[in-house]
Amino acid sequence: DKPPLATTPPMGWNSWNKFGCDIDEELIRGTADAMVSSGMRAAGYTYVNIDDCWMAPERDAQGRLQADPVRFPSGIKALADYVHARGLKLGIYSSAGTMTCQRLPASLDHETTDAASFAAWGVDLLKYDNCYNEGRPALERYTAMADALAATGRDIVYSICEWGANRPWEWAAEIGGHYWRTTGDISDRWGSVVSILDQQVGLEAYSGPNGWNDPDMLEIGNGGMTTEEYRAHMSLWSILNAPLIAGNDLRSMDPTTRALLTDRDVIAVNQDWAGIQGHKIADDGDLEVWAKPTSGGGAAVVLFNRGTTGARVATTAADLGLPGARAYTMRDLWTDTTTVTRSHVRASVPAHGARMFVVRPGGHGAPAVAPDAVAPGYV
Ligand code: GLA
Repeated sequence: DKPPLATTPPMGWNSWNKFGCDIDEELIRGTADAMVSSGMRAAGYTYVNIDDCWMAPERDAQGRLQADPVRFPSGIKALADYVHARGLKLGIYSSAGTMTCQRLPASLDHETTDAASFAAWGVDLLKYDNCYNEGRPALERYTAMADALAATGRDIVYSICEWGANRPWEWAAEIGGHYWRTTGDISDRWGSVVSILDQQVGLEAYSGPNGWNDPDMLEIGNGGMTTEEYRAHMSLWSILNAPLIAGNDLRSMDPTTRALLTDRDVIAVNQDWAGIQGHKIADDGDLEVWAKPTSGGGAAVVLFNRGTTGARVATTAADLGLPGARAYTMRDLWTDTTTVTRSHVRASVPAHGARMFVVRPGGHGAPAVAPDAVAPGYV
């Protein structure tokens, strides 16, 4: 049985989106330090994940993977110790193929040896990619590593990076995966976020505690999108119960990026497993409503505007699946304001933007009832 290492969606950081192959142990140590000093750790981010390009071009004389001697001269074990000393966990990467996507040695037919190395080094998470797979069945390749990881006896989160062609949501949870990619790679562009979002429709049934759909890592802070676009990215990934894996340079994060990544209310929606993964409950042209039930009898909602002009987006408490009540409180998660409404949940949403609320029956402790209140806009 798969260890319960991901009862809520894993949160952390990964080197790929920002740094690609330009990584070394100094970056990983600096990132671990920044996870603590920036408040990311306090917000719940735990995993520091090294992606592709950590390994030397050849296996050692015993046939084991080894760290690149120039970029990681101290080795992975020392890095794991450094990360653990800061109350964080270390993730690593390989591929269920003959080579990684960057043509370095990978783990197909070396599963037992490589899993044993990862465990001996103190690794806590493996992202297992799909490149150079020789056309062999995904289920077999990914099961072989799942079994090898289990045989080590170490708790290792298993992140299945099969890009969706073999519908990993149908088998990855069962073989031991804690989350699995649903699409090809994200990029730091609005079109990528929207296209990945569209590919999530209908997948919500497959996601739940200890086995999550992964719409790929975050691009927030990497510079290719506007603040409102990044706010939509964070809002949507949170309501989708996606693993929240930051992909920016944490060592030089600006306050806006930090605020987007560490908002406690937004993260609480992501980490609240009471209901099913959020899903699209309505769309009308460029305007969409995504929602999920939350514990405590509420509903989280993202009002999403994929268009190029600001627009009013609306839904109702009934459409959110909430029980009938005389009034509902509406907590705006990004502005930290609470209003009361009789039934409508609506707000003006900027172009390429999102607003995010938690709506609960009852008006207690909130400002006096305003009929169908409209939440205030951004300043
Ligand atoms: C694939 C994965 C990416 C990243 C790269 C590394 O493209 O989907 O997330 O790991 O490989 O080469």
